[in-house]
Amino acid sequence: MHVKLPQLNKVLDAKKGDNLFLRLRDEQVPIASSCNGDGVCGKCVVTVVSGKLDTPNTLEASLLEKYNHTAEERISCQCLIGDDLVLTTTYW
Ligand code: FES
Repeated sequence: MHVKLPQLNKVLDAKKGDNLFLRLRDEQVPIASSCNGDGVCGKCVVTVVSGKLDTPNTLEASLLEKYNHTAEERISCQCLIGDDLVLTTTYW
């Protein structure tokens, strides 16, 4: 499967179950973080334009609520890839 990042003109290969934050970092995609993927800072949020991630875990659900994120926004360090994705952020 693929993760498309139209703003960066990039398409990444991915496997079902890959951690999204780590997959982006592996490909040197800039992704905001001050907790290095520990699920604390909430900065690694991405917007899902299309595609599927796993259901938010308890930690991600609490961060999404804490930072008032929309239904399309996900905390990438807590997400597992479920299908082809198209993603954006405000800073790409
Ligand atoms: S990198 Fe801090 S919550 Fe994801």
